[in-house]
Amino acid sequence: MSNQHPLSIELANQTPHPSKPQEAIAVCIFEDAPHVSAIGLGDLQGDCEALVRDGEFKGEAGTSQLVYRAGPNGLGARRLLLLGLGSHSDFDASGLRRAASMAAREARAGRIKHLHFMLPDVEGGNERLWTQAVAEGASLGLYAVDFYRQKEDEGPELERLTIIASAETEALRADVSRAKVVADAVNWARALTDEPGAFLPPRELARRAAEMATEFGLRVESLDADEVRERGMGGLWGVGRGSEEKPALIVLRYEPEGAARTDELWAFVGKGITFDTGGISIKHGLDMYEMKTDMAGGAAVLGALRVIAQLKPRRRVIGIVPAAENMPSGHAIKPGDVIKTLAGYTIEVVDTDAEGRLVLSDGIAYARQLGASGIVDLATLTGSIVVALGDHRTGLFSNHDEWAQSVTEAARRAGEPVWRMPVSDDYKKRIESPIADFKNYGGRPDATAAALLLSKFAADTPWVHLDIAGTAWHEEDQPHAPKGSTGVGVRTLVELVCGEGPKP
Ligand code: BES
Ligand code: MN
Ligand code: ZN
Repeated sequence: MSNQHPLSIELANQTPHPSKPQEAIAVCIFEDAPHVSAIGLGDLQGDCEALVRDGEFKGEAGTSQLVYRAGPNGLGARRLLLLGLGSHSDFDASGLRRAASMAAREARAGRIKHLHFMLPDVEGGNERLWTQAVAEGASLGLYAVDFYRQKEDEGPELERLTIIASAETEALRADVSRAKVVADAVNWARALTDEPGAFLPPRELARRAAEMATEFGLRVESLDADEVRERGMGGLWGVGRGSEEKPALIVLRYEPEGAARTDELWAFVGKGITFDTGGISIKHGLDMYEMKTDMAGGAAVLGALRVIAQLKPRRRVIGIVPAAENMPSGHAIKPGDVIKTLAGYTIEVVDTDAEGRLVLSDGIAYARQLGASGIVDLATLTGSIVVALGDHRTGLFSNHDEWAQSVTEAARRAGEPVWRMPVSDDYKKRIESPIADFKNYGGRPDATAAALLLSKFAADTPWVHLDIAGTAWHEEDQPHAPKGSTGVGVRTLVELVCGEGPKP
């Protein structure tokens, strides 16, 4: 459920002369010269430069300021929203995207209905990329998590964004509409992730996935709990069996027009734990609170499929989300139990809180059964990756250098940076069990052990594992986003399938 106000985005190539109090002009300001960066600001250029000269605004990244300037001939007041972009050397599309998100948030807080955004004027600039970043950023910035807060009429909302570019072209218009498709899907995935666990058990996640699939023309091939058990998906079944809410394997398929069954198929597998109590190895205290977001990987996969269905690339893609609620009960798996996975391997469950790798092992095995030639899994998998990389880098693990490189490039273009970590049998002691083929927990370093275990299920299929435990959620309000989920992964997957970069 999301209550986001729709934002209409248009393009213009003329200096805006807003006259209404509910309008403002957003201007990018750099820390280093030239500070004021806009094409065709007209008489406002001098005004902005004066503000920077007077030290009123320094242009630090993540800062903004709303100022009032007298209109021409001293009549009326014009609002300027100054946006800090940091230094020119750090400038890129992700910085601009964040600045646009911040602008939208500030505009909303300032009761501005119509924001005119001046694209920055930087050397070697790419207006198409900038336009896309601003359109995406502004839409992402308006994401709000207060679904269940009662609202009084709080006054005007930001309704219109006019992006001021040097020319208004067909290509730029297409970039804006693509940006809207992407941002809407990211916000849709965020809303799923921020939904409380009680409102989004596996069957509801499956229902919402199917509803989205019908709306955008994807095929639904999901399996219910009985099928999961009968097919021998002991990892997913084992994790789900402690809950009153039955597990499900959500499967959505995108087939481009005229695709042959022999064409390559890429599979995206997302961890879909709708709530992670830890099971019998129960979590304590505040560790549990964030665990409604333990299906962020699944939401990212669904969000990416939602975009792919609209952008229609020439590539077969399947999305697989093993969904379960990890709960303790008389039916739950216990530490020491052994489960048998779809791939045939057995796993000793040393700790029921290491459940993500159990459901993913079946998700990855199923992707292989369906004939995937490349796999990317996304999972809020380990606290260990949060310790290692915090919330600024996603951990990337892979068994295939070229595939890893493609995903890394896509993530860079998407502004969702990853950092490669090892997959190596050096760590195999951590997953060796005296009683079964593997065990699911062997002490630290856990992110590395978890990835090694998953690699056994990927076998010789090119595979990338993205541990997004640190990047899926902001613990605090940010200038560009509220406390809550980030939708990380959606844009990386979209770039991978629909972007320009190198492919294996
Ligand atoms: N979902 C958690 C990982 C997690 C931790 C996600 C913090 C987001 C933020 C995962 O299922 C888990 O519980 N991992 C444990 C495993 C351990 C008990 C073997 C962990 O990392 O502490
Ligand atoms: Mn867990
Ligand atoms: Zn978990």
